[in-house]
Amino acid sequence: MLKSHRFALIGCVVATLASAGDEFKPTFGNVMLEFASRYSTLYYSAKASNWELAKYELHEFVEVQEIAEAVRPKHKDQLKEFEDKHVSKLEKDIEKKDWESFKKDFAQTTKACNKCHQDSGYSFIHYKLPSHGVEFLKMELDKK
Ligand code: HEC
Repeated sequence: MLKSHRFALIGCVVATLASAGDEFKPTFGNVMLEFASRYSTLYYSAKASNWELAKYELHEFVEVQEIAEAVRPKHKDQLKEFEDKHVSKLEKDIEKKDWESFKKDFAQTTKACNKCHQDSGYSFIHYKLPSHGVEFLKMELDKK
């Protein structure tokens, strides 16, 4: 009797811990906000020819994408396609430090962001580039 109670208690603690674990999982919306922030910084760092920052932001962006895939596995294929078709082009532009090509590919990528929102039933979520980069990061490198 006492023993079964103890097992019931352990079961309860395990269930509580498991659900607490779930609570700490980011939502897809959380992940998307970081996506949007890094994506905007990506644009303004490339524009300022701070290619090192652009490279860093794109790297972090891909990591965020992996979190998105884990949080919402049903979007995994769309996200992979998005990476293969668009993110890979931005990567090459950054490598070549080619702002003109980056600008074009960025515009196409933005269309793909919003197409996915539309296809997922969120056509009211339309990303637009902010008028400047985040205030807390310097986009231009100091001229030496
Ligand atoms: C796999 C499809 C997909 C792709 C690709 C995608 N999104 Fe999203 N995004 C969503 C979905 C779905 C939501 C709605 C949030 C939810 O489902 O919880 C969303 C929400 C958002 C939001 C609103 C977050 C909030 O809670 O206010 C922003 C901002 C956003 N996305 C930006 C972007 C940007 C920028 C890109 C491209 C760089 C992008 N998204 C690419 C599917 C996508």
